Amino acid sequence: MTLQQTPGPESVWSKVEGIAYGGDYNPEQWPQSVRLEDLELMKEAGVTFLSVGIFSWALLEPTEGTYDFGWLDEVMDNLASAGIRVALATATAAPPAWLVRKHPEILPVTADGTVLGPGSRRHYTPSSAVYRRYATGITRVIAERYKEHPALALWHVDNELGCHVSEFYGPEDAAAFRAWLERRHGSISALNAAWGTAFWSQNYGSFDEILPPGAAPSTLNPGQQLDFKRFSSWALMDYYCELVAVLREVTPGTPATTNLMASSGCKALDYFDWAKDLDVIANDHYLVAEDPERHIELAFSADLTRGIAGGDPWILMEHSTSAVNWQPRNQPKMPGEMLRNSLAHVARGADAVMFFQWRQSFAGSEKFHSAMVPHAGRDTRVFREVVGLGAALKQLAPVRGSRVESQVAIVFDYEAWWASEIDSKPSQDVKYLDLLRAFHRSLFLRGISVDIVHPSASLEGYSLVLVCTLYSVSDAAAANIADAARAGATVLITYFSGIADENDHVRLGGYPGAFRELLGVRVEEFHPLLQGVQLKLSDGGLSSVWSEHVQLAGAEAVQTFTQYPLEDVPSLTRNTVGDGAAWYLATFPDPDGIEAIVDRLVAESGVAAAASADAGVELTRRRADDGRSFLFAINHSQSSATVHASGLDLLTGDRFGGSVSAGSVAVIAED
Ligand code: GLA
Repeated sequence: MTLQQTPGPESVWSKVEGIAYGGDYNPEQWPQSVRLEDLELMKEAGVTFLSVGIFSWALLEPTEGTYDFGWLDEVMDNLASAGIRVALATATAAPPAWLVRKHPEILPVTADGTVLGPGSRRHYTPSSAVYRRYATGITRVIAERYKEHPALALWHVDNELGCHVSEFYGPEDAAAFRAWLERRHGSISALNAAWGTAFWSQNYGSFDEILPPGAAPSTLNPGQQLDFKRFSSWALMDYYCELVAVLREVTPGTPATTNLMASSGCKALDYFDWAKDLDVIANDHYLVAEDPERHIELAFSADLTRGIAGGDPWILMEHSTSAVNWQPRNQPKMPGEMLRNSLAHVARGADAVMFFQWRQSFAGSEKFHSAMVPHAGRDTRVFREVVGLGAALKQLAPVRGSRVESQVAIVFDYEAWWASEIDSKPSQDVKYLDLLRAFHRSLFLRGISVDIVHPSASLEGYSLVLVCTLYSVSDAAAANIADAARAGATVLITYFSGIADENDHVRLGGYPGAFRELLGVRVEEFHPLLQGVQLKLSDGGLSSVWSEHVQLAGAEAVQTFTQYPLEDVPSLTRNTVGDGAAWYLATFPDPDGIEAIVDRLVAESGVAAAASADAGVELTRRRADDGRSFLFAINHSQSSATVHASGLDLLTGDRFGGSVSAGSVAVIAED
């Protein structure tokens, strides 16, 4: 189902002030005395916004049709009195035991037929009619009860849809898949054509014969796999929309959202598709503690989230104050790291900073996950930093509503991610994100902002457009990218892009079919490299993963391979197109090689860093409609760094003195 957006709910930003601050609040785990202390500590920390009731269904409806709202009424009233606004949950992310006992058919089934049982969370399939009946039921009861409550600002629908399990293979899922296929393809002959079922005698006589792509003797039909990924993303979203339809009916003015997991680690869901049904984009992000460049992955996630939000401000719904509990070794955040992380999200467009969770649990499987109030209580480094962050965010109120300025776009497509990594490709070492993140990293280190956008998004106004491993692409999206070059942008396209259409059918006549003309090249044959093999390029650099037989068809060679059988074959080409240019990269250069290419692209396109600063400083600029601009300078290095900017440092209230001390942040309201 799709949601009726007009007249549409009010904006969440009309319901919270400044940069909203808080986290998940699970008061049901605590006695009254602790809940009262919570209110004092929240005041001290400057908390303004909390997600409440996410996992509380079994407490709110202890037996079918009997309700206990006493504790939640009190919590909501107390938060309202404290001036704190609430993202109230539908409580559907963990069905109660009585429901599972009565209707075990709601449980998820995996590809190998395993039924996932209760005792954890998220133990339901979104295609279960019974589950949807109960989930919309509790949603309606909660909505009716709190629709006029002064604390209510936003509906928090379910929680991290698709977390833990994102593909479901039970009988109801199979039936929903078939119905979805019928709507998508219209007729079984159209499906047969789209899936290329003439191959291996896979032709279907009717939709009833189709199953989800479960266990099979060998590789499964790629069209079936791709459509199942599309369906699985849609099924969770359709469930979301059904809950929101109830909320709209009861509280038409209150916006709704759910927390996404946009990052390098979440491939399952097409968030660009989801975005149209969310009233505001909310994202959860967790660092991988052992990654020394985790702040760069954070930037990637935040840039992607902003792209999903179409550039509008978004909510950081969860991150951690310190360690998590679900990585192999859960390192705490270093002193100051939480502030840098939080402000890096704000720098990249977040207008709300929230954590999982307010108070660290003493029982249950997340008891060693950090929180705003640690086990050791108020007198702790973490709580002091939480108070400090609250004060810092208060100073940043003027930033709210401004938008991040970028001259560079990186094209990003979940469908291309899926299609490029389905089995039976020329090389398993071609990973959708690898080159994309290598370029993002290089631009990050240069202080050059990047928007991460869908291939169909308007590319107008970008001077540099990067298209990495966009294996599958529609005609319209390919034309959109070509238009950007014609209009004057410098466009870089990397190998294994434009190979297939949306059905994963190869575009014939030489690779890369969708971009051959734009690039002025033609490739007859791929030469993927064996693991560990490095090729020498004409500029002396090395490359790995991929090479191919590029023939020039209008483009000029900028760099070539040097080794048999590709001696003198172009590895990097440039084609003048209209007012711009289209570059093609046919291999994976080493880090120096990536830098050399980015040097060329930056010089040609004229894109610039947000400011000039010493190495180690993360830079972005947000600009308000009225022209005011805010430069975020986050010093990730161990020494003081110079930043050339002038204006008022909002965090200190003093004029910016030209340097940011080690590990610190400056947010400069520029003159
Ligand atoms: C997710 C969930 C939270 C919590 C955190 C822990 O983001 O939404 O409920 O489990 O992970 O990191």
